[in-house]
Amino acid sequence: MHSRYDIIRRNTLKARTLIVKATAAAGSGHPGGSFSMAEILGCLFYKHMRYDAANPCWEGRDRLVLSKGHAAPGLFSHLAISGFIPESEVETLRSLGSRLQGHPDMKCPGVEFCGGSLGTGLSYSVGMALSARMDGLDSRIYTVIGDGESDEGQIWEATMAAAKFKLDNLTVILDRNYVQQDSYTEGVMPLDAAATGPNPNPVAARNDPTLWRTSDKWRAFGWHVIEVDGHRIEQIDSAIRGAKQVSGRPSIIIARTVKGKGVRHMEDNPQWHGKAPSPEMVPIILDELKSQAAVAPSIIAGDMTRLDLEVKRCDGAGPDYIHMDVMDGIFVPTVTFGYEKIRELRPLTDIPFDSHLMISQPARHVKKYAEAGSDIITVHAEVCSVSEFGEIHDYLKGVDVGVGVAVNPQTPIPPWLKEFVPTLDQFIVMSVVPGRSGQKYIYESHQKTRTIIQSLNEHGFGGVVEADGGVNTLNVADCFDDGARVFVGGSSMVGQPDMKQAIDDIRGRISYARQRMLLHRAHSLGGSKLVHDWIALHVVGEQSDTLNKIARESSLL
Ligand code: DX5
Ligand code: ZN
Repeated sequence: MHSRYDIIRRNTLKARTLIVKATAAAGSGHPGGSFSMAEILGCLFYKHMRYDAANPCWEGRDRLVLSKGHAAPGLFSHLAISGFIPESEVETLRSLGSRLQGHPDMKCPGVEFCGGSLGTGLSYSVGMALSARMDGLDSRIYTVIGDGESDEGQIWEATMAAAKFKLDNLTVILDRNYVQQDSYTEGVMPLDAAATGPNPNPVAARNDPTLWRTSDKWRAFGWHVIEVDGHRIEQIDSAIRGAKQVSGRPSIIIARTVKGKGVRHMEDNPQWHGKAPSPEMVPIILDELKSQAAVAPSIIAGDMTRLDLEVKRCDGAGPDYIHMDVMDGIFVPTVTFGYEKIRELRPLTDIPFDSHLMISQPARHVKKYAEAGSDIITVHAEVCSVSEFGEIHDYLKGVDVGVGVAVNPQTPIPPWLKEFVPTLDQFIVMSVVPGRSGQKYIYESHQKTRTIIQSLNEHGFGGVVEADGGVNTLNVADCFDDGARVFVGGSSMVGQPDMKQAIDDIRGRISYARQRMLLHRAHSLGGSKLVHDWIALHVVGEQSDTLNKIARESSLL
């Protein structure tokens, strides 16, 4: 991971908020398929594609072909964030005279293909890849196709042609979200092993690799195939990088995704293929998008003699980050490991490393931790002056590594931090005295977290607050209510025999707190009627039962 992780994550969140605003303003559009490809486009626009937004027709650029053209809001949102068009223009979606219509057309800078009629974008891409080669350009063609779209015969004609012409400058990404128009794909025309029932819910198919047959089809046509979780930035990033290394064959990345990802009532719900959110729900949906949470297991709570095995355990448990607690025996009494260990552990997983440096003189050492493979580096305010932190901040921003500050339980926000807050990526509020895992959460940290967040927000903070120390299933909901959005777990995650179960339990408590927060938001906006209407949107699975229970417990209904 040559990072940019934080940039991709933040911009992808911003893209989702623009999609919500644009489709709500238009009163129509396709949020579902725009959300499912948000991370895919995020990795392309903010890490891999070469382009110049000020010179969109630069001949040497890479090209993005959105073959599933109905997901136009998803494309326009990223074009706006990348600077091709003003962000404000996204809300002119589908209005008369706008460059942003229901399907992309080339009036809009950055649009390479007039998508809409499904099935044709791959053929067009084959032509682009052939002509790029004939012109001696090293441009890469990236094409996003849909799984429903794969029912079109033309897709398979183009697939054969790309293999015949050995188009290794073509990378296709299949947004495998299992929904097409008003149904689940596996009931219409299965790409995987035939699922049971007339309209099989995609969750089982998506989560059971023994059912997967899509890659077999593409491999049989002579393509290099990579399977990823289409919402894990690090996996998409690694796959795109891998595809660039392949010669003599085109590559396809099969990104298993969730249609409507990010907004729970839209997820796996065919209703939101082509329907806009209603205006009264937009503020709640935006709060839902902005309140995404992450879990970060701390490996020092495991076997310190086999940190490689602990990283592998984390890899299998599906956390968002791995928290690397570096202790030098000077800033804190304990010694854990240094940058050499991080370098050694880096190749074992793509999961981002959240490096927490409990070391003295961090400015002297930060470069080694970045080069070792950290994705986010947090240093302690107690051992930084404003100039030392400025050095750390500017260096990490220059190498696209996330920048964080941590404070011990007794330390307030340092006055010198103010100028850095707008570009700070992470703020760790220590809820134990640093030095080891397994300590008890210091209760006063709840109020301290709220006070810190209020102050950070007053100074334009756009990053996340991380709760670190003694966080567990009993207090994580309160930590979420305080405003923390990343939760470190040493003894509560790595220290547990079944780490995946432990992480799932903590995620369950976070989800409870998040749903409760959104129900309170609905109530503050529209009383119990809006609470009722918000709950009624959640038609997939048993979500509405859970929400009704939370609402009643909180006297919102
Ligand atoms: C303490 C570290 C924490 C600790 C977390 O100095 O910064 O990350 O390892 O472990 P638990 O969750 O067990 O407190
Ligand atoms: Zn830590």
